[in-house]
Amino acid sequence: MAKTIGVTRRLPPEGLELLRSSGATVILNEEDRPLSPEELRSMAARCDGMIVQLVDRVDATLLDAGKNLKVVANYAVGVDNIDRAAAAARGVVVTNTPDVLTLATAELAWALLLGAARRVAEGDRLTREGRFRGWAPLLHLGVGVSGKTLGIVGAGRIGAAVARIGAGFGMTVLYHARSPHPEIEREARAARVDLPRLLAESDFVSLHVPLTAETRHLIGEKELSSMKPTAVLVNTARGPVVDEEALVRALKQKKIFAAGLDVFEKEPQLAPGLAELPNVLLAPHAGSATVETRAGMSVLAARNVLAVLEGRPALTPVGI
Ligand code: DGY
Repeated sequence: MAKTIGVTRRLPPEGLELLRSSGATVILNEEDRPLSPEELRSMAARCDGMIVQLVDRVDATLLDAGKNLKVVANYAVGVDNIDRAAAAARGVVVTNTPDVLTLATAELAWALLLGAARRVAEGDRLTREGRFRGWAPLLHLGVGVSGKTLGIVGAGRIGAAVARIGAGFGMTVLYHARSPHPEIEREARAARVDLPRLLAESDFVSLHVPLTAETRHLIGEKELSSMKPTAVLVNTARGPVVDEEALVRALKQKKIFAAGLDVFEKEPQLAPGLAELPNVLLAPHAGSATVETRAGMSVLAARNVLAVLEGRPALTPVGI
C-alpha cells in the first residue's frame, strides 16, 4: 500500500508491525515527548492516515494541513481532543479504542477505590518511614467497602464493568445516565437515579462520563458538599469533569473522606494543594496502562487506519 501513516508517539510494537507489513510508509515520532502543534501539522501534511494520542489536539487547523488525510485513529477511547465536527466536515474518519481497555480501566478504578478507602498509599508511607510502632485499635482506620452503596456516573462500558465488580462486593449499585441501560441494571442490579440522589446516597462515587461541554465541572463545590462525609470519589474519566480546586477544598475540610484520581484538570499539573493532601490517592492517567491492553489498543488503532485507507469501513468509528 503506497500510503503514508503518521504515528505521533512510540506505541507497543504490535500495531506498528501491522502498519509496516501493509507496505505503508510509517512516519514515527521516536522522541519521548508529545509533538508540538506545528510538528503535528507538518506530520499531517505528509500523511494519509494518523494514529494520535489524547494529548494531541486535532482541530480544524491540523485537519486543513492534512490535505490527503482520510483517517485519524485516536489511541484512546475518549475523543475530547478531536474536533469531530471539523473532521466530519472534511470527510476525515475518526476512530477510537473502545472495549480493549474496558477491564483495565475498571480495574484501576477499583484499585483507586479500595486504595483510597483503606488508605493503602498512606499506610505504605507510614510503614516505610518507620512511623509504624505496632498494632493499635485506632491505628490507620479506613472505610469498609463490602455491602455499601456504589454510585456510577455514566453507564458506558467502563462504568458497567466497575458496577459488575461492585456487585461482587455485595454493593447496592446506583447509576446516573441520560438513558436507561438495561445491561447494567441486569448485571449489577443497578438502579437508575438522578445525580443529586446518587451523590447523597452513595458511599463511593465513580465517574465514567466522556468530557463534553455538559460534563465539564459536573462535580463541583455544590455536588461535593452533597456527598456523605464518609464518601470516596473516584475519577478515571477526564480531569475537567471535576472542579479540582473545589475538590482540594472539600478534601481539606473533610467534606468527603477521600478521593482516588487517575486524571487531572490541567494534566499533568495538579491543582495547588492536591499533592499535599493525605486523603487523596493519585495515579498518572494509567487506566489503560497494562501491557496487554496497550498492545490491544495499538493493534485496534492500526487496523482502523488500514481499514479506511484500504477502502473498508473503520472497525470502531466515532460519530460527531
Ligand atoms: C482513554 O482511552 O480515553 C484513556 O484515558 C487512556 O487510555
